[in-house]
Amino acid sequence: MRSGEGIFQARKQHFKPGTNVVTAQSLQQARDLFPFLFTPETRPVPQVITNIEDLRILAEQRVPRMFYDYADSGSWTESTYRANTTDFAPIKFRQRVAVNMEGRSTASEMIGQPVAMPVAIAPTGLTGMQHADGEILAARAAKKFGVPFTLSTMSICSIEDIAAATDRHPFWFQLYVMRDRDFIERLIDRAKAANCSALVLTLDLQVLGQRHKDLKNGLSAPPKLTVPNILNMMTKPRWCLGMLGTKRHGFGNIVGHVKGVENMGSLSEWTAKQFDPRLSWADVEWIKKRWAGKLIIKGIIDAEDAKLAVASGADAVIVSNHGGRQLDGAESSIRALPSIVAAVGSQIEVHLDSGIRSGQDVLKAIALGAKGTYIGRAMLYGLGAMGEAGVTKALEIIHKELDISMAFCGHTQLLTVDKSILLPGSFPV
Ligand code: GLV
Repeated sequence: MRSGEGIFQARKQHFKPGTNVVTAQSLQQARDLFPFLFTPETRPVPQVITNIEDLRILAEQRVPRMFYDYADSGSWTESTYRANTTDFAPIKFRQRVAVNMEGRSTASEMIGQPVAMPVAIAPTGLTGMQHADGEILAARAAKKFGVPFTLSTMSICSIEDIAAATDRHPFWFQLYVMRDRDFIERLIDRAKAANCSALVLTLDLQVLGQRHKDLKNGLSAPPKLTVPNILNMMTKPRWCLGMLGTKRHGFGNIVGHVKGVENMGSLSEWTAKQFDPRLSWADVEWIKKRWAGKLIIKGIIDAEDAKLAVASGADAVIVSNHGGRQLDGAESSIRALPSIVAAVGSQIEVHLDSGIRSGQDVLKAIALGAKGTYIGRAMLYGLGAMGEAGVTKALEIIHKELDISMAFCGHTQLLTVDKSILLPGSFPV
């Protein structure tokens, strides 16, 4: 037996009956028999889920390739996508000892709303393709955990679906501005009617960054029934069963609500036609007036734009490069954060999205002045891996890492955390 297999056998002792277990050996046999069904990344399922990477590996096995790739990719060379996570690593904590660590709390507020921890669910497109009814499941998990859930315009479940499935618990709605302004007005009104408590306006997707994998995979929702897609879906029985059990397979906020849109064809083509490349700050003013509630502007990565967002009357900005999916070569979010906090942090709440994969990342962002953070991929991996329970697991993992790391840094309340927990010279300024 090779040493890797030895570890694997030892871990088998912890298997719970009934879980979907793939051994290294059976995986290799299946690979030898049906090489076309596998990709080089396929790995044995982690037996005990302890971190977000475990959820990612599980999601990679359970979600059809085209949707897994959609979540786990950036634009062009993916350099910004990678930098979003790797730029957290050089930031070091100052460990403190002999400080009373009892009675800890990660509770705080985002835009005046109480949160169990300052980690909202980010708006992610096609969430209901990672798992049947994905947006509903993620919204329920967020509600139970006490953190905000943000629904994307490009979701599979509709605004009304989320409201109905969560007993009208307030959630946030993310808006993309499209050429059809009547449709945008109706979307805003639908979000109000559904009890949404914040509008998250995304400003960095007037045009789409090229994501090679999506083009090669022919990404669409529902997926086209081509031979490679069917063969790949045959290896994802849970996913297929889930999809057979729901009627939600298209873009719930759009199909049937935009004149002439019944079939969106390829997502990249549709986006190129419908998203408004002329979007300007004057539109932000118009949207703010129509919405007349809390407004969060997403997609700010430059201090000058953050100042314009303050002038627009927004309540918060999200420092974000869209998870490295738009301008490849743009600065990572965590590196951009300090200059934006310095420019506008005294006037507006600054939040951070893109790159958060652990509670330690959250703690670093909070120490550098963010009042809130967002998880997109970390949530999607949980969802693809285990549905609602997986999203809850992702939130629990992040919460535990945040709570314990905060304690090691000598704090019992997240509200007291600031830059002083970081090692001078190790963080961007
Ligand atoms: C938009 O939601 C995207 O695909 O990044």
